[in-house]
Amino acid sequence: MQVAPSILSADFGILNDEIKAICDGGCDLVHVDVMDGHFVPNLTIGPVVVSAVAKIATKPLDIHLMVENNSFFVDLFAPLKPEYISFHMEEEKHPHRLIQKIRSYGIKPAVVLNPHSRPEDIEYLIADLDMVLLMSVNPGFGGQKFIENVVPKAKKLKELITKINPDCLIEVDGGVNNKNIEELKNAGVDVVVAGSYVYGADDYGQAIKSLQI
Ligand code: DX5
Ligand code: ZN
Repeated sequence: MQVAPSILSADFGILNDEIKAICDGGCDLVHVDVMDGHFVPNLTIGPVVVSAVAKIATKPLDIHLMVENNSFFVDLFAPLKPEYISFHMEEEKHPHRLIQKIRSYGIKPAVVLNPHSRPEDIEYLIADLDMVLLMSVNPGFGGQKFIENVVPKAKKLKELITKINPDCLIEVDGGVNNKNIEELKNAGVDVVVAGSYVYGADDYGQAIKSLQI
């Protein structure tokens, strides 16, 4: 299981140290939550701060867009060369076109499904994707309770992925901790995002390792 700590739960007063600590602690990706105050009721960071994060991080960035006007934000963040850019299906009229745009920048494209969205709706996109991100909370905030129905949903998605594009990864984001990591692993999940669980721990490295099962 790969682990992508979400810096949303970091102490932004000492962001430099907080990024170094998760990278030295052995994380696989650095998860960056970009919120615009429109698609979700919260506002986070833009390219100025994320470029500083990119300079400090020794692990690849996983940028999660929670915005309106995805295409505009893809152009804004692409120069920072993240490993992944993911965008929400609920907010995109032309997902197939946007996936190609992300790939044309040399970045791996991922789509995100909110808790209510169905894996079947992305069946015809799976062949073009490197990852599907399933939300296990409603997007907008760290520290929320894990929504259990992501487990059967991940299983259903895994069946589609196995049939269509076995290289495509499944990522789960929200409320992940050492109590639900095993059921996620058993459901076929490859990557987990963890914000409050990692940044709320005394030892970030140990928290990361407890999820790398
Ligand atoms: C929620 C974000 C998550 C969040 C996860 O909108 O996408 O990445 O930071 O935080 P935890 O792990 O605390 O639920
Ligand atoms: Zn996220």
